[in-house]
Amino acid sequence: MRILITGVGGPAGASLALQSRERGHEVIGVDMADTMTARIADEFHTVPAATDPDAMPALARIARRSGAELVIPTVQEELPLIAAAAAEVPAPVVVSPFAAIALAHDKRYTMTALAKAGVAVPETFDGMPTGNGPWVIKPRRSRGGRGVQVVEESAGIELDREFELIQEFVPGDEYCPQVYRCPDSGEVTVVVLEKLELREGIVGNALGVLRRDNGEASDIAAIAEDAVVALGLVGPIDLDVRRRANGEPVVLEINARFGANSAAAPELLDAVLAHAERVSGLESAASDSAAGLEEAA
Ligand SMILES: Nc1ncnc2c1ncn2[C@@H]1O[C@H](COP(=O)(O)OP(=O)(O)OP(=O)(O)O)[C@@H](O)[C@H]1O
Ligand SMILES: [Mg+2]
Repeated sequence: MRILITGVGGPAGASLALQSRERGHEVIGVDMADTMTARIADEFHTVPAATDPDAMPALARIARRSGAELVIPTVQEELPLIAAAAAEVPAPVVVSPFAAIALAHDKRYTMTALAKAGVAVPETFDGMPTGNGPWVIKPRRSRGGRGVQVVEESAGIELDREFELIQEFVPGDEYCPQVYRCPDSGEVTVVVLEKLELREGIVGNALGVLRRDNGEASDIAAIAEDAVVALGLVGPIDLDVRRRANGEPVVLEINARFGANSAAAPELLDAVLAHAERVSGLESAASDSAAGLEEAA
């Protein structure tokens, strides 16, 4: 299959490109920047930033000219756009419906929607918290862990509520469950990965992950599945989950795309490719039978 991967020079995209090539597929990589990592693709094109009005037309053009048979976005900022523009891309796009993407794209909306659905999340405040911290202040939109601060007291904090939120600091072990939810059957596969060390000590990106199999972290798998179903997400999803001091897991955020650690859960790409092959098989069977009917008529 010819697979177009966006953000191919980033951690999620590069890992996905490598996994696709290892499985014998051809990768058309696109990225804003032409880097050594981006050249992991068989064919590479630079594209405008997601915020550029030409971003989606350019992607559709490249997909058409390169004969892409599947498009897998990995760039966080482009997800709402690509979910909205999916029908204009001349190949199936691996993305959830726009309404689900919009909830996952803003951590404030994610927290509210999950709490409403009965999925545990860190207590997230409307006003300033009172009592004892620590608390976490962070951007409502994912920025690769940038701008996350742990604060001990709320006095003197100025919060830009349009862009930031303040919530309970959750001190326990951190996981990044890798989820696939089939868009047709709704069947869910979860691989629980535990983050081994965080780049900035108590918060941040994982420097390594450990796969937790055989029900070792079945509560983490369960909350990941509940969260994905509650938001109506499908396809590949990467979550951040932490344990409270009492061990109870809470969902920190949901990235509605392949994450940086998907190579440790090859089930995800396997499922995406199997689904794409099934859909294209059904489509060609439908067009064969349409052609057959025309001939008979
Ligand atoms: N409420 C919280 N309690 C404890 N730690 C937190 C909390 N919120 C975020 N963190 C820490 O900060 C990290 C980054 O937060 P978050 O995932 O929400 O931001 P991000 O910009 O989306 O980061 P990335 O894209 O790297 O996942 C988390 O992985 C976790 O280690
Ligand atoms: Mg995160």
